[in-house]
Amino acid sequence: MPDAFDAGSVRLADRDVPRLGYGAMRLPGPGVWGPPADRAEALAVLRRAVELGIRVIDTAWYYGLDVANELIAEALRPYPEDLVLVTKLGGARRDDGSWYAALSDAELRAGCERDLRVLGLDSIPVVHLRWMDGTESGVSFADALGTMLELKAEGKIQRIGLSNVTLDQLEQALAATDVATVSNQYGFAQRDDQPVLDRCAAAGIPYLPFFPLVAGGGAPGDERLARVADRHGVTPAQAALAWLLARSPVMVPIPGTSRVAHLEENVAAGALRLTDEDLALLDG
Ligand SMILES: NC(=O)c1ccc[n+]([C@@H]2O[C@H](COP(=O)([O-])OP(=O)(O)OC[C@H]3O[C@@H](n4cnc5c(N)ncnc54)[C@H](OP(=O)(O)O)[C@@H]3O)[C@@H](O)[C@H]2O)c1
Repeated sequence: MPDAFDAGSVRLADRDVPRLGYGAMRLPGPGVWGPPADRAEALAVLRRAVELGIRVIDTAWYYGLDVANELIAEALRPYPEDLVLVTKLGGARRDDGSWYAALSDAELRAGCERDLRVLGLDSIPVVHLRWMDGTESGVSFADALGTMLELKAEGKIQRIGLSNVTLDQLEQALAATDVATVSNQYGFAQRDDQPVLDRCAAAGIPYLPFFPLVAGGGAPGDERLARVADRHGVTPAQAALAWLLARSPVMVPIPGTSRVAHLEENVAAGALRLTDEDLALLDG
C-alpha cells in the first residue's frame, strides 16, 4: 500500500505532515459546481486519502458551493487529530458558477463562518488569503490581510496562509505575521512562480502548488515526462509529481482527483526518486 510519508515530510501547522497532500476541488460536479458525478467514489477518495497517510487537505467553501466541504465532513468526521484542513477565503461564485473576488471584510468573514459551519469546526487549522484581482474588488491586500489577522485573533483561524500572491505581497505579509503556507500556481510546465518558491524555501514555508498536474497545459502530454515515466514504469502524472517533490524540500503538491485509482497513483509517486539523468532531461 502506498504511504504519503514516502514523499518525505515537512513541518506545517506545528505538525510533521507528509509532503503529499490532496486538493478537493475536483470532487464537485463539472466546473467545480454542484454535486459530484459519483458521490460514493468522492467519499471513498477522501477516506482513502487519510488511510494512505495524507494529512493536508485543501478545500474552499466555494467549491460546489459547499460541496467539497460537505463531503469532507461526511467522510472524515471525527477528523484525525493530525489532519490539517486548509481552506481559502477571497473568492466567491455567481449563480452561473463564474468566479469573482470577495475580499471585503464582510465577505471574508461570511466565508469563514460558512467553512466553520459546514466543516463542523470551531477553528480552522490553516486559511489561505486567496488573492484575486484587487481592482475588481476595490480592496487592498493590506486591508484583506487585516481581516485575516482579526479572524486569527478571534480564534476562528489558527494560522494564515497565502494564495495567488506576488513576492511583494508575501514580503508584506511576512512583515505583519507568520505565514503558514503559500499556495500559488506551479507545475512542470509552469514555473513562473520560482521566485516565490525560492523565498518560501529560504523561510521554511511549505509551498502547496495548485494545478500541480494541469499547470501550463499539463503534465500528461509532455514528451520529456513521458520518457522519464517510461524509464521508471510509471505514468507521466506520477513523473510530474516526483519532479515537483524533487524541486524543493518545502514543496507539498496537492493533486486533485475524483477517483480512488488516481489518488493511489499520486500517493505512490511519492516513493519515486528521479535520477540526476532524469532531472537533467526534465530541466534541460
Ligand atoms: N489556491 C487556489 O487558488 C487554487 C486554485 C486551483 C486549485 N487549487 C487546489 O489545488 C488542487 C490541485 O489542483 P487541481 O485539482 O485543479 O489540478 P491538478 O491537481 O493539477 O489536476 C487535476 C486533474 O488531473 C486529473 N488527475 C489527477 N490525478 C491523476 C493521475 N494520477 N493521472 C491522470 N490524471 C490525474 C484529475 O482528473 P480525475 O478526477 O479524473 O482524476 C483532474 O482532472 C485543487 O484540487 C484545489 O484544492 C487551489
